[in-house]
Amino acid sequence: MKKKIISLFLSVILVFLLTGCSSESSTGNDSEVLNTNSQKKLIKVGFSQVGAESDWRSANTESMREVFTAENGYQLIFEDAQQKQTNQIMHIRSFIQQEVDYIVLAPVTETGWDTVLQEAKDAGIPVLIVDRMVDVKDDSLYVCWVGSNFELEAQKACAFLDAFTIKNGIEAKNINIVDIQGTIGASAQIGRTKGLKDACKANGWNLVAVENGEFTQTKGREVTEALLNKHPEINVIYCENDNEALGALEAIESLGRVAGTDIMNGEIMVMSFDGVNREARQDVIDKKIACIAECNPLHGPRVASLIEKIENGMVPDKMSFVDEEFFSADYDISSIIAGGNVYPVTFLKEDSN
Ligand code: AHR
Repeated sequence: MKKKIISLFLSVILVFLLTGCSSESSTGNDSEVLNTNSQKKLIKVGFSQVGAESDWRSANTESMREVFTAENGYQLIFEDAQQKQTNQIMHIRSFIQQEVDYIVLAPVTETGWDTVLQEAKDAGIPVLIVDRMVDVKDDSLYVCWVGSNFELEAQKACAFLDAFTIKNGIEAKNINIVDIQGTIGASAQIGRTKGLKDACKANGWNLVAVENGEFTQTKGREVTEALLNKHPEINVIYCENDNEALGALEAIESLGRVAGTDIMNGEIMVMSFDGVNREARQDVIDKKIACIAECNPLHGPRVASLIEKIENGMVPDKMSFVDEEFFSADYDISSIIAGGNVYPVTFLKEDSN
């Protein structure tokens, strides 16, 4: 009898320990999860990320994961859309069902969000947009946006090319440029493509071709190879991100061409955006990539501070643009003018990489 009582007592303790542990599970589905330190209810955030197409994206995901932790008072539900808007729409609907406190959306493209964001609004869940923008009829469907000025990045890159041609006495008619675009319909693509098109028109550069490189290294290499075979006169390749630029460099080398800035003597100038990938930054130092307009991915703390403002009853700015640098090597161009403002050119050096 005594043995039976002891074994019953032990079983009760075991069940208590097991259920005690599972009530703070990391399934992301329990809205009553508590921050063990403060015993405050965690703020539940559903984040729909575009995918993992670039190094920029991985750095962005890391930045979000680093900030939205239980220690910081958050429960993060992270979803990867694998570059598909349909997946992001599914994520938002599932966040609504899970009754999250906030939805954070890094949209793959700008359009097509009206219906699902209306559903979030009807459910009373504030939506924050990060990185790329959304193009919706009613802008009350989201609380605020934080990200880059993609067109300004492009204007900086084009201002650099303009300064370079002037400094080296290269006539505009001798610039044969191609645009390797990012994911079509993404703000980063729209702004960077527009900036280049406007500059080609204003400066009289020949825009030889425009192709979709999907922001990836593989596609960047594939389209560059095809373009250089078709148009050997190309002397500037404008890649809309670093992964495409790395692919373009592979293509240039595989065709026995040389990446560099002696474009009147057969070299091919590669221009890029982001500045996150170490290899790409090293290529700037080695003068294989002429310049990189920075696109800063560290949005985690920015989104957290917007949420904090809302939690404290404040109304955050609708649009917050991030300050960004412009990277190059020493071509004797120390500043550029874009959008009416002067920006310094940061010369990358071995010790800054
Ligand atoms: O929206 C930001 C862009 O998306 C980055 O430039 C690119 O690398 C990423 O995939």
